[in-house]
Amino acid sequence: MADKLAKLDLGGKSLEYNVLEGSTGPDVIDIRKLYAQTGAFTFDPGFTSTASCESALTYIDGDEGVLLHRGYPIGQLAENSSFMEVSYLLLNGELPSKDDLDDFTYTITRHTMLHEQLMTFYRGFRRDAHPMAIMCGVVGALSAFYHDSTDISDPEHRKISSHRLIAKMPTIAAMAYKYSVGQPFVYPDNNLSYTGNFLRMTFGVPAEEYVVNPIVEKAMDQIFIVHADHEQNASTSTVRLAGSSGANPFACIAAGIACLWGPAHGGANEAALNMLREIGTPDRIPHYIERAKDKNDPFRLMGFGHRVYKNYDPRATVIQGMVRDVLGSLGINDPVFEVALQLEEMALNDPYFIEKKLFPNVDFYSGVILSAIGFPTTMFTALFALARTVGWVAQWNEMISDPGQKIGRPRQLYTGPTQRDYIPLDRR
Ligand code: CMC
Repeated sequence: MADKLAKLDLGGKSLEYNVLEGSTGPDVIDIRKLYAQTGAFTFDPGFTSTASCESALTYIDGDEGVLLHRGYPIGQLAENSSFMEVSYLLLNGELPSKDDLDDFTYTITRHTMLHEQLMTFYRGFRRDAHPMAIMCGVVGALSAFYHDSTDISDPEHRKISSHRLIAKMPTIAAMAYKYSVGQPFVYPDNNLSYTGNFLRMTFGVPAEEYVVNPIVEKAMDQIFIVHADHEQNASTSTVRLAGSSGANPFACIAAGIACLWGPAHGGANEAALNMLREIGTPDRIPHYIERAKDKNDPFRLMGFGHRVYKNYDPRATVIQGMVRDVLGSLGINDPVFEVALQLEEMALNDPYFIEKKLFPNVDFYSGVILSAIGFPTTMFTALFALARTVGWVAQWNEMISDPGQKIGRPRQLYTGPTQRDYIPLDRR
């Protein structure tokens, strides 16, 4: 019996519901019996007040700007850890020992190649296809290739599928890029780190030796870390919902990629850099701020605002802190960074943004770094998908392992016509 109860008076009945407490964060009212007891549903479009599941992976305090993975603050992980270690943490719940990390890295490294037949899928796409369109298709197609690990009731199968997905995403993303620029695919090199290998597969060519720049490798790894998981966001909820029917894991991740693509979610990093380039010079910033505030103008400041963070996004803090170093070490003086800094300052001092608690999110500065590294804007969301795959598979695994797991099936407030008789065509 929970200590706290929520009381509801409805249709002359007085009902009580348990209030459940997590290890931290808001309490939740357990309304699972509401419909059976009252015949009523709750109404929460956009799920602004709904906890859709129980999870021990990631915690966000949006008011304080806190993001924890298995309890560890994102800033500490970005500074001290590696993407492989964070992936292990998300999947297994604890930081690995040195041996565990070596084993995990070895396993992921040995799964990086794609089935050769899968390469032919790329050739079916137009050369100007968006990398996210290719990612949706190719990741979905994995479900037709790896039949030996898709018994989702078997934890070992789930583990192998998870490792395959994490390992193959860099290869798939790099090949999407190679296809778009008309260069040959570069096969993985098992001597390199996860991130170094991705950089080589993306920017290397068979005609020359590719030397991984350690500064770029570190920056890219940190970018992967800050994108690794983010609680029950739209794409993660999509993966969970797709997975709740028992669907093939590769198909579930393809569903997550489709959701991530939208400009309100992962597509915002591409949109943010395009916006900063369009603004171009600091003197044009006030015009764009006015447009963002104008209710009759659909324009929004991309990379600003968040459903959960009503404070500085801690991921943006990590990335903002990296920009100057990365640009400096690459010898790049991109005027877009100055535009970003001044736009941030102006927006944070504007009553509209203060009142609505709109702060830079993870996507505001990431594009500046990714562009300096050499990625075209169309690849930005594909990089997000690559990194978020570990979060998606960890959340999917958590859901499938939950003995109380049910197919996700929301209800609705019906506002269409009530029952009426069919009218034959000649009488309409
Ligand atoms: N520029 C101008 N106004 C904004 C912005 C913005 N970027 N974001 C929110 N608002 C206003 C919005 O017009 C609304 O005003 P009002 O209350 O007067 O109608 C108010 O702030 C609340 O916005 P909302 O759309 O109701 O809030 P939401 O929680 O549904 O949306 C959001 C969150 C992220 C979709 C939204 O802030 C947005 O569209 N931002 C730009 C896109 C973006 O950067 N997305 C990346 C999110 S972080 C990466 C990820 O995890 O996917």
